[in-house]
Amino acid sequence: MKRQSIFVCQNCGYQSMGFLGRCPECDTWDSMLEEVKEDQSRGCGVSSPAQPIGAIEIKDQERVTTECGEFDLVLGGGVVAGSVVLLGGKPGIGKSTVMLQVAFDLAKKGHVILYVSGEESLAQIKMRANRLGVNDEPNLYLLSETNFEVIKSAIESIRPKYLIIDSIQVVYDPVLSSSPGTISQVKECARKLSRIAKENTISTFLIGHVTKEGSLAGPMVLEHIVDTVLYFEGESFLSHRILRAVKNRFGSTNEIGLFEMSEGGLKEVKNPSSLFLLDEGEQVAGNVIVSTLEGTRPLLVQIQALVAKSYLGIPLRRTIGLDHNRVSLLTAVLERRGKFGLYNQDIYVNVVGGLKINEPAVDLGVVLTLASSLKNSSLDHDLVVFGEVGLAGEVRKVNFAEKRIREAIKLGFKTCMVPCGNLLEKSKLSIKIIEVSNIREALQILE
Ligand code: TYD
Ligand code: MG
Repeated sequence: MKRQSIFVCQNCGYQSMGFLGRCPECDTWDSMLEEVKEDQSRGCGVSSPAQPIGAIEIKDQERVTTECGEFDLVLGGGVVAGSVVLLGGKPGIGKSTVMLQVAFDLAKKGHVILYVSGEESLAQIKMRANRLGVNDEPNLYLLSETNFEVIKSAIESIRPKYLIIDSIQVVYDPVLSSSPGTISQVKECARKLSRIAKENTISTFLIGHVTKEGSLAGPMVLEHIVDTVLYFEGESFLSHRILRAVKNRFGSTNEIGLFEMSEGGLKEVKNPSSLFLLDEGEQVAGNVIVSTLEGTRPLLVQIQALVAKSYLGIPLRRTIGLDHNRVSLLTAVLERRGKFGLYNQDIYVNVVGGLKINEPAVDLGVVLTLASSLKNSSLDHDLVVFGEVGLAGEVRKVNFAEKRIREAIKLGFKTCMVPCGNLLEKSKLSIKIIEVSNIREALQILE
């Protein structure tokens, strides 16, 4: 084996022969670390001879469903046999919890599972299992190990159908001379595990930590090794979590799964909109309910605005959960096209429930809630709004209008304000539709 010393960026995997202070690929400072380059055979797929395209038969993917419908949905309808899934997320978000729950679900169905934790002791995992309300499952094997060779021999002796590695960043291969945790180690271990998964048809889940910047540590290099990349998102101080597929060789990447962290583990959220709507009470000015899409799923979310006279030279503009620039733009449109004096007002806009929205379909809702707060006039509590707003004050059509309205009907809302011409068959929907083509028409609802 030929050995050579190289410098590798620990963020994106860029390699250089000499030391560099800043990675030219991802612009990260101080991320280049010296590693030993191993010259050995690579590849993670199973080799087979070339065949003419006509001779190849497509077999239906063998999928196994878990008890967790949301998890199956994000994977594209269950776990594909022999697939390799990378699950990323911030520390403490619930990656180990969701994988342990899935492991129990699969074990109950009679499949053999090996859960390898390099971060926690067996007793700690057992304590988590007790919290989840389960403690005995003969098909679920736990191993606390970081050495790849030991993990490999455990796989050979237990012969699991499912393998969970918690987390891939702590696994190291003693054959490689790079230090544990370096990008070469993570990449090589993921590649070898992937090869074992494909050769023995073991569905493998690799858990990966996300860095402060929000990318998986050593992540870009792992994303192309695996079949599916899932991100577990949310804030640890809020209870809801979103599981999102960002790459999926066996399904769509539009699906999201919604969970709520409870005392007894992660629970599926059957009615997601309920998380983002405030309890019904007296309707106050500066509140609006918008119909937004998370992946392919419609969600009703409450947006709040507070417009208050400013005592500063430059008025404040603060937004939580929405793009700051987008709100500034909508403020300017409301000022100019709607003739609202906002130049001497502080503006605060907040999305209830800690959700982050970045689709323009909520523009009309933001404009209405700002106007409602300034005029101190409340909007109807059974009104739902959506539409994109342009610089000329026009309200533009958005996609999946009917889907958004159906969610509003499902939750008992009576009126929906939509962009003009966005709906083809209005009569089919059992809700009052207000069509608007510009913000002046929309603002009439406050008069
Ligand atoms: P964990 O799965 O350990 O996160 P990760 O593996 O992503 O680092 O989950 C950690 C948090 O979840 C921890 O703060 C405790 C909380 N939790 C609950 O609230 N309820 C539960 O039933 C469990 C198991 C964890
Ligand atoms: Mg964990």
